[in-house]
Amino acid sequence: MAKRSNSDMSRRSFIQKSSLATSSILLGSLTAGSKRAESRSANDRLGVAVIGTGGRGNSHLRMLNQLKEDGENIEIVAVCDIYRPRREAAASAYKAKPYDDHHDLLADKAVDVVCIATPDHIHGYQAIDAIQAGKDVYCEKPVTHWRQFDLTKKLLKTVQENDQIFQLGTQAMSDSVWHQMKKMVKEGLIGQPLDGETGFFRIGDWGEREMTIDDPNAIAGKDLNWEAFLGDSPKRAFSVDRFFRWRLFEDYAGGPVTDLYPHCLTQVVDILGVDMPESVVALGGIHRYDYELREVPDTFNLIAQYPEKVTISVLGTQANDFNGGPLRGSGQRCPVIRGWEGSLTISDNNKEIIFTPIREKGAKAPLTVPIETGEDNLKHWQKLLECCRSRNKNSWSPMDLAFRTQTVLQMAMLSNRTKKVLRYDKDTMEIV
Ligand SMILES: NC(=O)c1ccc[n+]([C@@H]2O[C@H](COP(=O)([O-])OP(=O)(O)OC[C@H]3O[C@@H](n4cnc5c(N)ncnc54)[C@H](O)[C@@H]3O)[C@@H](O)[C@H]2O)c1
Repeated sequence: MAKRSNSDMSRRSFIQKSSLATSSILLGSLTAGSKRAESRSANDRLGVAVIGTGGRGNSHLRMLNQLKEDGENIEIVAVCDIYRPRREAAASAYKAKPYDDHHDLLADKAVDVVCIATPDHIHGYQAIDAIQAGKDVYCEKPVTHWRQFDLTKKLLKTVQENDQIFQLGTQAMSDSVWHQMKKMVKEGLIGQPLDGETGFFRIGDWGEREMTIDDPNAIAGKDLNWEAFLGDSPKRAFSVDRFFRWRLFEDYAGGPVTDLYPHCLTQVVDILGVDMPESVVALGGIHRYDYELREVPDTFNLIAQYPEKVTISVLGTQANDFNGGPLRGSGQRCPVIRGWEGSLTISDNNKEIIFTPIREKGAKAPLTVPIETGEDNLKHWQKLLECCRSRNKNSWSPMDLAFRTQTVLQMAMLSNRTKKVLRYDKDTMEIV
């Protein structure tokens, strides 16, 4: 496979401050990968590779190892990281082939499935490359960086035009509760869907400020490919903070909006069955963790309105952990799903779905339904592997759902920056 130069990765797809109208991305000219995955039998061994062997990449390696020990027919065949010490540690721990460039890993025939656990702004490019190389993909959330709307569209198109399986790393989607709620909404229990309310409240900036600095004296060079880390972000001189604690910086991250909200918004979009938002408005900022390096918000509230006459709101802060109810999954508050005839939420003991009818004469009867199973990241992996074997593109967190969710988050980030209500034009697929 031809190697792609760094300049390729650095082609800017930013939505510039001056104009929110995104430049045309020539969707039609995208060369779709023509490789077709061969059908695999349930017994075939799948070769799995992890790109990005930092914190999350290592938890994936542990999960994959666990799955293998539990009898999944998989092999961890390769790892890739642009930072040598992490790459070598993972390669030796799992006896996997080390690669310093993801293009080389993707050319490896032993690799069937790749897990992308690099920083946010790298995901989209690597996912496209992986699909075009004929690999199935477990891509960490957020699917792309908040400024990469064009890239998100390109990835959507690539997934649509190819047979490869894609699942986003929103492991909350392995929780049966959301699928049960979705079915209830589809069957008409709440009547005409009206509103989804969700959020993420927690205390602490440890997710950003306390990311591990493996080596305070690290330098860019042959052991640390700074250009590959930068990708399409603005060219900047190497900085230990930027490399190891990238979540503090807008060039690579979006704070809780893109780090945490995919965990609580994805299922609400799915349950309500909404397509693309008509308009999004958001306000947020650094309300508590105001120190020199931090650029990303710690508090952020957004509202998305849909042509289906549905509204979704996501509220959140990293400065208060009162969720007003039980937590579900990765620390997010339980959503409330409202319709013309009643609402769905989760019981205080977190074991049941509660349907509360509207307070009106002749309303439906209240209903309590046990939740079948909870969230389990191993199950999320198993679902992907099962989809890879059966060639079923309908994973628990497929690309079209990732696109619908990420567009809201991208519009929200841009809305807050410009203090404008942003509109999505369905015909042109542009944010205006
Ligand atoms: N689903 C979840 O619950 C969950 C939890 C944690 C992190 N994540 C996601 O996982 C991703 C990684 O987060 P992390 O905390 O592990 O970050 P990290 O910094 O610990 O790890 C990222 C690794 O990617 C490597 N890297 C950077 N650019 C690369 C490139 N071009 N090619 C190959 N390797 C490259 C870095 O050297 C680093 O080792 C993030 O997008 C994050 O949102 C998801």
